[in-house]
Amino acid sequence: MAGIKTAIIGYGRMGAYYRKVILDNPDLELKMICDASPAQREWARQDAPEALITDKPEQIYEDPEIQLVILCALADSRKEQIERCFAAGKNVISEKPIGISAGQEKELVALAASVPQFSAVNLYLRNSWYHREMKAFVESGQIGQLAIVRICHMTPGLAPGEGHEYEGPCFHDCGMHYVDIARWYAGAPYKTWNAQGIRMWNYKDPWWLNSHGTFENGVVFDITQGFVYGQLSKDQTHHAYVDLIGTRGVIHMTHDFKTAHVEMRGTDRTEILDKPFGEKNLPVLCSQMAQSILSGHRDPSMPEFKDAAEASEVAWEMLRDAGTHEMPVKGTDEELVQIRERRSQMTDGYGLLKKRHNH
Ligand SMILES: NC(=O)c1ccc[n+]([C@@H]2O[C@H](COP(=O)([O-])OP(=O)(O)OC[C@H]3O[C@@H](n4cnc5c(N)ncnc54)[C@H](O)[C@@H]3O)[C@@H](O)[C@H]2O)c1
Repeated sequence: MAGIKTAIIGYGRMGAYYRKVILDNPDLELKMICDASPAQREWARQDAPEALITDKPEQIYEDPEIQLVILCALADSRKEQIERCFAAGKNVISEKPIGISAGQEKELVALAASVPQFSAVNLYLRNSWYHREMKAFVESGQIGQLAIVRICHMTPGLAPGEGHEYEGPCFHDCGMHYVDIARWYAGAPYKTWNAQGIRMWNYKDPWWLNSHGTFENGVVFDITQGFVYGQLSKDQTHHAYVDLIGTRGVIHMTHDFKTAHVEMRGTDRTEILDKPFGEKNLPVLCSQMAQSILSGHRDPSMPEFKDAAEASEVAWEMLRDAGTHEMPVKGTDEELVQIRERRSQMTDGYGLLKKRHNH
């Protein structure tokens, strides 16, 4: 039996990742790719000979065979694409964020709830084996009561002005994943926060931010995110961890983008796990969606529009809070030019756009 006919809108870094995953999934079949950029379409023609390449999204909406559309253009065009997909009866996997403002995102959450088709957002951490194992350990009571969630993600990733211009500063673009997963662990809405940022290299927005505060149930958190970690160092590295501190035990996780290392120290047992990191876990999300379409029942583990909307709104609010405090500047415009120049020459690096071998 042929797979579910699928289309991709936006064939950059993420679009190309999805294509590989679709090719590996026997339940899915890539039929069309749409990109607004002639250069990207040219590249797509070589990269994806099995698909029809177009600059007209209408071709996708009007094709009755296409059941699933994967949206990986930028946030500015997402709302219209989601609305058109739903109006045309398509199921949707959307990249995050689902819109450019909290208002747009709320509208889309309401829309998704009102249509019969399935929708999901790539909040990829929720589909990672390590966060699932860690959550199960917390729920088993092994660490007592969860009290403190600490998350840090610092890399020499996407530089200011390099792309993702509609997804916001890096604390929103990337940080919303951590805002989401911290709430997922706490199991309660955010209540309070205080945020500190710094305007690295004199850029208009903070490119490193630390936010700490509370959830409604009294769990406390701190989240640190920045694409500032040794941008001009000869040999680049990163620093990423999650600590879940309970009243009796503790969980620590770290990764090198290849292997995730998890240490779970509970009252009765200690578990140390090292397994492949799993990149963006797209095979999991695509298979959840394919199974939902085939069975007619939504896989409840698929991240929902409302999860993305809530994380996005809180990440914007934390950025806004940082703007009400002292926000120092370190570094110069010249250094930022050097960083962008260096990243444009790199073939393997953190978060490079339109290349297929990045973190
Ligand atoms: N979930 C994650 O972990 C994760 C990681 C990276 C990126 N993303 C999200 O995925 C999206 C794409 O990111 P990327 O890194 O692939 O960016 P990218 O710049 O590499 O690719 C975006 C592509 O969309 C095309 N495009 C732009 N507007 C379009 C439109 N209106 N119609 C058709 N094509 C259009 C561009 O020409 C480009 O080829 C972003 O919204 C980003 O936030 C999510």
